[in-house]
Amino acid sequence: MKKIVHLSDLHIGYKNMSDVFEGMIGRLIYLCKPANEYVVVITGDLIDDATKEGQLAEAKSYIETIKKEGFSLLVAPGNHDYGSGNSATDERMKRYKQEIYGDANTKFPRFDPIGGVAFIGLDSMEGEIKKNQGAWADGEIGEEQLEKLDNLLSSQAVANCQYTVVYLHHHPIDESSFFRRVIREFHGLDDAKELKKVLVAHEIDALLFGHNHDGRQWNGNWGIKRAYDAGSSTGKGDTQGPHRVIDLAEPLYTDFDAQL
Ligand SMILES: [Fe+2]
Ligand SMILES: [Fe+2]
Repeated sequence: MKKIVHLSDLHIGYKNMSDVFEGMIGRLIYLCKPANEYVVVITGDLIDDATKEGQLAEAKSYIETIKKEGFSLLVAPGNHDYGSGNSATDERMKRYKQEIYGDANTKFPRFDPIGGVAFIGLDSMEGEIKKNQGAWADGEIGEEQLEKLDNLLSSQAVANCQYTVVYLHHHPIDESSFFRRVIREFHGLDDAKELKKVLVAHEIDALLFGHNHDGRQWNGNWGIKRAYDAGSSTGKGDTQGPHRVIDLAEPLYTDFDAQL
């Protein structure tokens, strides 16, 4: 069973985040061998500001380096990937998709069966952009994508896989604290309840996300064994988040946090 390395919120282009990530890539190559036994999942905010020139090209070169080493690599877009964090536009979304996925019109959910694991990536900015609501840091998957997700989770292609992992940028699990309820409108996932409905109707093995830069575990929420927020792996705005190495075939306690 391939192992998953979960990274998030790299914010390449912000302060020294590029240097930090370069160092992380070096240690990833050194520590995670052989590379073809690992799937690196980056849950969004790959870059810090899509309105600035150069950040996307730089991020793309890092991605290519990781892939060239033999790692499988999957990326979900975040709010900073389509704008400055609160200025997502359709045009920037298309540019990001062209650079990162090689197709400006690529559709979500993205389905990648890798080594018996169904990896399903969501775009938690798609609904926001459709409603022209890119003005805050919140996200929305949107009805159309959720319906496709529901169909995909019911499909034979997913049933043929031993495990299912769903990954996205925005933190979907509501903490129900007053503070979180207040800021959800501006920072949370608007259709978290609808996503929950789809995910609890199917059995998934892991839910991976970022955005809040918390780096916490939400295991057991929504009946999902592994639910992880990777934090900011490069340490934007706070201490550097852990990187989790997850082997779905092993018990939960074998998942470990390390610093790349
Ligand atoms: Fe972020
Ligand atoms: Fe974010």
